[in-house]
Amino acid sequence: MKRIKSLVILILAILVSPAAASVVPLPHGAEAASGARKVRVTALQDNVLHIEMTDAAGHWPEAASWAVLAKSRAASAPVRASAGGFETDALKVTVDPSSLRLAVERKDGGTIIDGLGGGPAPSGEGVVVDAEMPTGQHIFGMGDKTGSIDRAGRSFIDWNTDAYNFTSSTDPLYKSIPFFIAAGAGRQPYGLFFDNTFRTRFDFGARRPGRIAIDADGGPIDLYLITGPSIGDVVRGYVWLTGAAAMPPRWAFGYQQSRWSYMSEAEARQLVRRFADERFPLDAVWFDIDYQDRNRPFTIDRKAFPHFEKLIADLNKQGVHSIPIVDLHIAAAPGQGYAPYDSGVAGDHFVKRADGKTYVAPVWPGPSVFPDFTQERTRRWWGRMFKMFADMGVGGIWNDMNEPAIFETPSKTMPLDNLHRISGDGFAPRTATHAEIHNVYGMENSRATFEGLLALRPNQRPFVMTRASYAGGQRYATTWSGDNSSSWDHLKLAVQQMESLGLSGFSFPANDVGGFTGGPSPELLTRWFQYAAFMPVFRDHSQKGAPRAEPWVDGESELAIRRHYVEERYRLLPYIYALAEKAGRTGEPMMRPLFYDYPQLLDSDCDQSMQFTLGGRLLIAGNPRPESPRDYQACLPAGGWYDYWTGKPAPTKRPLMITPRHEVLPVFVRAGSIIPRQPSVMHTDAKPDGPLELDIYPGPDCSGVLYDDDGRSIKGDFRRQIVTCAVDAGGAVTVRFSKPEGRFKPWWRQIAIVVHTEKGERRRMIDAPNAPMTAVIPSMQAP
Ligand code: NOJ
Repeated sequence: MKRIKSLVILILAILVSPAAASVVPLPHGAEAASGARKVRVTALQDNVLHIEMTDAAGHWPEAASWAVLAKSRAASAPVRASAGGFETDALKVTVDPSSLRLAVERKDGGTIIDGLGGGPAPSGEGVVVDAEMPTGQHIFGMGDKTGSIDRAGRSFIDWNTDAYNFTSSTDPLYKSIPFFIAAGAGRQPYGLFFDNTFRTRFDFGARRPGRIAIDADGGPIDLYLITGPSIGDVVRGYVWLTGAAAMPPRWAFGYQQSRWSYMSEAEARQLVRRFADERFPLDAVWFDIDYQDRNRPFTIDRKAFPHFEKLIADLNKQGVHSIPIVDLHIAAAPGQGYAPYDSGVAGDHFVKRADGKTYVAPVWPGPSVFPDFTQERTRRWWGRMFKMFADMGVGGIWNDMNEPAIFETPSKTMPLDNLHRISGDGFAPRTATHAEIHNVYGMENSRATFEGLLALRPNQRPFVMTRASYAGGQRYATTWSGDNSSSWDHLKLAVQQMESLGLSGFSFPANDVGGFTGGPSPELLTRWFQYAAFMPVFRDHSQKGAPRAEPWVDGESELAIRRHYVEERYRLLPYIYALAEKAGRTGEPMMRPLFYDYPQLLDSDCDQSMQFTLGGRLLIAGNPRPESPRDYQACLPAGGWYDYWTGKPAPTKRPLMITPRHEVLPVFVRAGSIIPRQPSVMHTDAKPDGPLELDIYPGPDCSGVLYDDDGRSIKGDFRRQIVTCAVDAGGAVTVRFSKPEGRFKPWWRQIAIVVHTEKGERRRMIDAPNAPMTAVIPSMQAP
């Protein structure tokens, strides 16, 4: 009886199970179907897979993306069909024919990801994706989510939100970057990019330990899997897909001063004068909303700023670039001669409500309308309006409030059934609800600004700062982490958010140094300056009504420390700029967590939450409890290290304990580094007075890069020269300069080589070589 029952159950199971499925080879991948569901996997590169699944109605995702470059989507790598899937030169992909779940292994064995599957949500609304998450796996990325950069055991929402005064547990924030990196657990790292713009939840083993679960309110299952072998390979692969960050002009790496707001021309001039009087370097001043007439974008308050154009021209002469804010909300001001509104109405450029009428809602200018940035022609209209700023010679443009933020509404944003029109980018022309467009709206705003500036000043690198963005938004703008606070907790968040943005494609991120809300204590502001000196973009900014946070506000002794660190940043400019150029070319983050270059630290017990590297070679060993006077451990990876400040080899004793000192942020240099530096200058366009300094810290694989260009052109000449060093048995150091690439003439004519050793420095001055050249610096003992 029992056996008959089992047989009946077996027959029933076969009858109700999906139709027998097969895995069909494709020229660059494989496709499988199970019942009405289908999955398609194609190899874009040996280590980059595109995974698409059909929706409930059996449709494939639209062959277009806001995030992924068309040329990367169209790329293909050779594959060989194999049992149940295919192989690339690096990977073996298998699709389970009944569940349609994927396993991806390294060609030489070893699982990378297992059980990756998805489909329509059981609720009938939206889609779900999930995969196995082995014990001990770390999760990184997701943009500037707060808290520890390891996202394992937590869950997050992607929904661009004006998160004023956010805390370490606030989520969602301003940006949505649905890309994460899974690493550790004895597996090769992978990155997964879920290219879906709807509101999405990511759960990294929080609700169901052992599983990564993603669910979105709508949209397709359009995934990209990027494998290692290193975390750096995953980041570079993601950037290959979504584009490298727009390279800023060189001055953007100098010190930048902001405030909501410098309220008048006189105040701005006085500010810049004070920087000169204090001998404090300055490269940019930001103009917040009060330079505008009644907070209306593309206007100037002529009472407070009667000669705004002249102000900008005068600042330019002093090497100080101006960055005015231009928010996206256009005042709904019919019949008032306000051109952005009038021309926007005439061109039908504004977002519509579900009933087809123009959507009007309050923001800074009062009742406002909102450009429909997903239309190509609207982006062009928007971009052309920057002519007034291009003519003035502004350095860049600041796009804020573009989540979009809406006042006086509990959702803080537009109704989800508002209508956008999509045209261009390979999408079928159609209307789309705000539910679909919300997360890309800010990115398309910054894109319109970027493309507008580029059209107005061809071949000049546009510098755009945006608050909201989506994956790939790095192509158009840099970003900052929004309205943080003046607290030690937020200093810590800033370090982690900058690291995480770097892993998520945004190579040049910023944070409000000193904190936006509140007001930093002298100790906190000084510490923040010390960290920011080693971060990609350094902008001090504070809220209206908050205590002032310019470098001098706490008196001479704090000012001296802050000046020392900012000057050190300017001295490091040749190193910083070479890193920036590489980031803009490859996506390699400038500021990165220690495990990026030293994977052995992935599972270390040493608290690295305030420790990071600038370019892998300078290790900033901050205090994990930045407010605490207690000793802490520097998480130095194995190998030799030098103390950056003394130039002497660091103690070899481990653990290396550090006693915090207010005036010092410990920095170490990896043995085997060549760090180019220059005499400090008052702004980055100034020619340094003296030779280029080449600091050599002997050790294994000793190398460095000299890079220079004109600092502003997109396509211009450049010069790149690789330098290596070797120490012989007698202690003599041989420094080799490669043949320079490019024909740009760098500012340096002479190079002061400084070799750091146990016994002190050895120096030698040489003429900058234009051809391969070797310089030998004899050992100290040599006669
Ligand atoms: C909000 C931004 O986050 C902040 O940086 C800015 O100062 C204010 N808006 C005013 O424009």
